[in-house]
Amino acid sequence: MLAVGIIGGAGYTGAELLRLLALHDQVEVKVVTSRDYAGIPISQVYSHLAGYYEQSFVSPEENLFDELDLVFFATPHAVSMNLVPALLEKDIKVIDLSADFRLQDNELWKKWYGDVHASPELLSEAVYGLPELNRDDLLGARLVACPGCYPTAVLLGFAPLLAEDLVDFSNLIVSAASGVSGAGRKASLSNNFSEIGENFKSYGVAGHRHLPEIEQALGKIVGQETKVIFVPHLLPMVRGIHATLFATLKRNTSCLQSIFEQFYEVEKFIEILPKGTYPQTRNVRGSNKVQISIERPDGGSTVVIMVVEDNLVKGASGQAIQCMNIVFGFPEDMGLEILGLNP
Ligand SMILES: NC(=O)c1ccc[n+]([C@@H]2O[C@H](COP(=O)([O-])OP(=O)(O)OC[C@H]3O[C@@H](n4cnc5c(N)ncnc54)[C@H](OP(=O)(O)O)[C@@H]3O)[C@@H](O)[C@H]2O)c1
Repeated sequence: MLAVGIIGGAGYTGAELLRLLALHDQVEVKVVTSRDYAGIPISQVYSHLAGYYEQSFVSPEENLFDELDLVFFATPHAVSMNLVPALLEKDIKVIDLSADFRLQDNELWKKWYGDVHASPELLSEAVYGLPELNRDDLLGARLVACPGCYPTAVLLGFAPLLAEDLVDFSNLIVSAASGVSGAGRKASLSNNFSEIGENFKSYGVAGHRHLPEIEQALGKIVGQETKVIFVPHLLPMVRGIHATLFATLKRNTSCLQSIFEQFYEVEKFIEILPKGTYPQTRNVRGSNKVQISIERPDGGSTVVIMVVEDNLVKGASGQAIQCMNIVFGFPEDMGLEILGLNP
């Protein structure tokens, strides 16, 4: 059994790791940290987990990580970068759900996160944890940087078009909307029910932190700089991301549907919907699946890709477990064979 710890276990992605790992055959969760809930049983804070976890949250200060094989960070940015080197030194692998190791350029980190990176020497080692695009690099990796929730949807939607050199990658456009759990569990005025309910709004249009991450990963596919316009929105629902991507075709092609079907042919978690069928967030709610559909309105030169995922599962904790399965050589779908909750 793999001995696992979760730092930030009382937040939304931490709780989702606990929910999914409770049913994983090869994992025992030994240490779960929370500063707010230290000493309180996990099942008291999250009673949907009662019967699966007997232990209490512990403070990260207690530093109970020495006997672990793997630590997940489910913390805000600028936390893991201070703690990861000591864990790696003890041969403990790390899967980080935060942004700390996603950007490979130290200067880019400083620009978007406004801080000096505490462990820049590890940026080039960190493997970007998007298995469908990066599986081989994950095998045996010491440090995995899981993608953000929006980047997961955007990259999976654009990847086949860019890999086939079909579209103008200097003009990629994304309009995406996320449920409120994407902002984490901490209360804030902008996230309270009466601010969110019966409302739909954009945010971060001038520059969202997921933008450099998206451009970095797309740039790797084409070997050149890419340019993306990224417009995120907030949806009055708890879970789910719906991303609509727009790209301009460089040449005429009649086989977009089959290009996507072939690109993801062996991917268990990616479903290319039949032509004319559009994805809905409820189809993937609670599951590690991504649904994608492709359209070319009126046969024109603009391709429209629609992608849905559950931000807390494929957009975060499910994907982190998928990465863990690859890193440790378990079947990739172990613990992740969950159907969506529809309705
Ligand atoms: N929510 C999503 O859909 C989503 C998707 C993909 C990636 N992510 C990323 O995943 C990470 C966690 O997101 P989340 O939504 O789960 O956030 P969250 O609900 O706010 O939870 C974060 C947790 O981290 C702990 N924490 C905060 N500062 C800490 C520190 N200095 N040391 C140790 N623990 C600390 C907090 O617990 P205590 O204060 O009790 O210790 C809190 O429970 C973030 O980096 C986020 O960007 C989130």
